[in-house]
Amino acid sequence: MTITRATLTDVETITTHRRAIFFETGYRDERQLNDMCAGFRPWLRSRISTQEYLGWFVVDPEGKVVSGLGLWLMDWPAHVIGPGLPRANILNVYTRPESRRQGMARALIVSALEWCRDHRIPRIRLNATEQARGLYQSLGFQPTNEMQLRI
Ligand SMILES: CC(C)(COP(=O)(O)OP(=O)(O)OC[C@H]1O[C@@H](n2cnc3c(N)ncnc32)[C@H](O)[C@@H]1OP(=O)(O)O)[C@@H](O)C(=O)NCCC(=O)NCCS
Repeated sequence: MTITRATLTDVETITTHRRAIFFETGYRDERQLNDMCAGFRPWLRSRISTQEYLGWFVVDPEGKVVSGLGLWLMDWPAHVIGPGLPRANILNVYTRPESRRQGMARALIVSALEWCRDHRIPRIRLNATEQARGLYQSLGFQPTNEMQLRI
């Protein structure tokens, strides 16, 4: 399995993955999906440039991306567990349907977690889809005390 790192030339691929994730989780409104992508591209471009967004891909022997993962480094106020260190948010985890259940997403998560360990990132969070929950749990992710209010 070949794993590569994302660059600015991969903005469209990552945006396509993000759209597909929302589509697969039930968001079918084309306009809503298009608006999300239009807002996401400049956000992503800017954060790849500042290295606040890191991406990993699995590529096939022809170099085609079959699976992807993003790691967003979030500025975080000083905390007892690691003053001055950012926290990480895993997002845009997607494997093309024909390549699923071959350990690709797992390999990408492991790569991102290794990067986090090497850079002393104290906490890594994510929003899990039903499809991905078991995978994250098997890698040690646990539910947190986070709460949310929808307005
Ligand atoms: C969730 C998703 C990213 C998983 O990608 P994947 O590359 O198939 O993931 P993996 O192969 O590493 O693991 C998936 C499952 O296959 C199993 N698996 C891994 N290698 C396997 C193999 N060789 N044979 C059989 N099963 C295998 C894993 O144990 C895991 O099982 P689980 O779902 O019961 O925990 C993919 O299904 C997807 O893109 N879904 C739509 C978007 C989505 O939900 N993204 C997650 C956002 S949080």
